[in-house]
Amino acid sequence: MKRMLLAGAALLAVAALPAKAEDTVKVGMIISLSGQFADTGTQMLNGAKLYVKQHGDVAGKKIEIIAKDVGGINPPVAKRLAQELVTRDKVQFLGGFVLTPNALAVAPVATQAKVPTIIMNAATSIITTKSPYIARVSFTLSQVAAPLAEWAAKNKINHVYTLVSDYGPGNDAEATFKKVFTAHGGEIVGSVKVPLKNPDFSPFIQRIKDAKPEAVFVFVPAGEASVGFMKAFAERGLNKAGIKLIATGDLTDDDVLTAMGEPALGVISTHHYSAAHESPENTAFKKAYADVAGAGVRPNFMAVGGWDGMHLIYDTVKKLGGNIDGDKAMAFITSGVTIQSPRGTIAIDPTTRDVVQDVYVRKVQKVGGQLYNVEFDKVAKVKDPGKS
Ligand code: DHB
Repeated sequence: MKRMLLAGAALLAVAALPAKAEDTVKVGMIISLSGQFADTGTQMLNGAKLYVKQHGDVAGKKIEIIAKDVGGINPPVAKRLAQELVTRDKVQFLGGFVLTPNALAVAPVATQAKVPTIIMNAATSIITTKSPYIARVSFTLSQVAAPLAEWAAKNKINHVYTLVSDYGPGNDAEATFKKVFTAHGGEIVGSVKVPLKNPDFSPFIQRIKDAKPEAVFVFVPAGEASVGFMKAFAERGLNKAGIKLIATGDLTDDDVLTAMGEPALGVISTHHYSAAHESPENTAFKKAYADVAGAGVRPNFMAVGGWDGMHLIYDTVKKLGGNIDGDKAMAFITSGVTIQSPRGTIAIDPTTRDVVQDVYVRKVQKVGGQLYNVEFDKVAKVKDPGKS
């Protein structure tokens, strides 16, 4: 009996041995798993985990995700985590990045260590210019704000007030919206930038109400800020005053849309992904995602960014036969790659390493009793206008 137990223990020990380093490709993910942006990081990680679960080993390698919680906007911590992942954990890829300031802080590490770094959300245009080892599979604020400005001008909205979070993505969203909207004959009647961390929107929203614009254009980062904005917008009665709400899809993020409730109905937004996107790929993605994230959790654009980012990493590992070299990896990533995403086909621009994709115009509507961003128009193959 004792011998049998021992033999059993030995077997267990063998089974639990970690895969040998040379059999593994490590991907270090820097994301927020606590604080204001915890849900965004969790969605992104679940998207990446799902891809690994669905695809297993590639080129004889196990793909291992090492997730690090940066705890919100924290560039020095992001940089330290990247350095540790590279030097101690010996990751061959970096990925994740919900937030622009954290991505920017990691760019010098990516360059110095020659580690391919895949941006799965952070959406300020300049990020990809900060290191030749950075590529982006998500979107840029300029890429989605330009089609929205055009849509507004073409749909008889003439006077707009802008409200954005006061940091990189907000600055890009405001600048591009203004440029394109005024070029199409629209007028900006006022602009305000609100603090990024836990803002009280009420005083800003009252100011907008008093200015009586036809519409307010909004960018706030997805999650708690978008819920807070929508609450204040309804409480101050802007919708009842007939002021339309137009926004980048960060405001009507699939993860929090249900929590926003009725005030979100009718919001027009532009973005790269909606859970309501109709395609066989998205139907399969949503079904599989529920197995990883839990039933009833709707994948949002962070989850899709995680899944697509991991897809690009798998394709790169496959192309390199499992032997990862930073320069060879970037040569592949800039060779005109395309990816079948749940949002549609995306491409990586060989020159800018930024994503090229269809941008959808959507309206919040009830589908089967639940709020969704229902796509009703699209602009095909949009490049980041921030680069030209
Ligand atoms: C960024 C963060 C977000 O939460 C979002 O919705 C869009 C952009 C960013 O920091 O780049």
